[in-house]
Amino acid sequence: MYEPRVLSGMRPTGALHLGHYHGVLKNWIRLQAEYPCLYFVADWHALTTDYESPGQVQKNAWDMVIDWIAAGVDPAQATLFVQSHIPEHAELHLLLSMMTPLGWLERVPTYKDQQERLTDRDLSTYGFLGYPLLQSADILIYRAKYVPVGEDQVPHVEFTREIARRFNHLYGRETGFEDKAKAAVKKLGTKKARLFTELRGKYLEQGDAEALQRAQALLDEQQNLPRGDRERLYGWLEGSGKKILVEPDVLLTEASRLQGLDGQKMSKSYGNTIALREAPESVEKKIRTMPTDPARVKRTDPGTPERCPVWSLHQVYSDEARKDWVRGGCTTAGIGCLECKQPIVDAVQTELAPMRERAQIYLDDPTLVRNIVADGCDRARRLAAETMRDVREALGLTYA
Ligand code: TRP
Ligand code: SF4
Repeated sequence: MYEPRVLSGMRPTGALHLGHYHGVLKNWIRLQAEYPCLYFVADWHALTTDYESPGQVQKNAWDMVIDWIAAGVDPAQATLFVQSHIPEHAELHLLLSMMTPLGWLERVPTYKDQQERLTDRDLSTYGFLGYPLLQSADILIYRAKYVPVGEDQVPHVEFTREIARRFNHLYGRETGFEDKAKAAVKKLGTKKARLFTELRGKYLEQGDAEALQRAQALLDEQQNLPRGDRERLYGWLEGSGKKILVEPDVLLTEASRLQGLDGQKMSKSYGNTIALREAPESVEKKIRTMPTDPARVKRTDPGTPERCPVWSLHQVYSDEARKDWVRGGCTTAGIGCLECKQPIVDAVQTELAPMRERAQIYLDDPTLVRNIVADGCDRARRLAAETMRDVREALGLTYA
């Protein structure tokens, strides 16, 4: 609804690596050309688990934004900002907390999982329980339609949908809703009003989903209709009250096919990464010393690519011809492992060189990133303020 906005956030965990690039960032870069996109640093989310050592958060945040831009996220297309610079997220989080049943939060699968996994810290805190609700506020405050995230975050977006529905149900009803909706339909003009009424009938009476979509699209185009009326009509279309908050959909990000240097998932905590700003000598050394199929003790021992982490890198960086070369050469001991690794070294160097170069510009002049984020925050703040005005109004907090 409205313009279909895309929103996603990342916790500032330090230098990003190739796993982030091939998983998340390439997806963000693709989307920025298709939709208005908002990408933000979830620094408050980082504090829910790292509240005892908050010192690194800021540095990590700047480094992360530099990595985004270095990788190709374009501040001229996407809005880049920092969560804690938009205090409206906290206000919405607080207001939503009033109507959020505790049981809903306790049932979010990541809650118990993470508590059991991160045993080195006490996560029986108010903030950690509220993690998914803070995420809901992040999404709902921009009325985002699409949220690109990985599998692990799907329950949080589902949760957000339920919160939006509950909010709209509780506060979207108003006295005289039906009459106000009918008056709003008239404002569409005779022809569109007739079409809208007809489509609504088809949806409500026959469950015609296409009619619903067409009616929603018709409303999307009515930029001149006052917002309150649009909310009413989106709601009236489905027979309920006003739709103040928009239910978001997941855009599932495929897990990165790129494994870590040891064959496990690439992750900083496993020490098996190549950072986006890794120095060329280090890239070369890391790849050349990667473990290979343990069966290839001597150069003359044949191997099995499926048992070798280098093979997984060829899946990402090599075409069919080169994969054939690897398969043939490995299984017959026709090539050595260093020979097999060389094209990977070259491909990674080619991929990272422009990123390193772009990052350097921002490292040399930190005000550039500061300004990009300041601009992004201004834009984000304007959008957040719009939603908050409607939310406060729905809750009777305007004090006009
Ligand atoms: N929880 C997300 C993660 O750990 C980060 C995040 C915070 C987020 N708020 C968000 C992602 C809103 C998408 C939308 O990856
Ligand atoms: Fe791995 Fe290549 Fe060596 Fe085979 S030849 S074990 S695929 S590095």
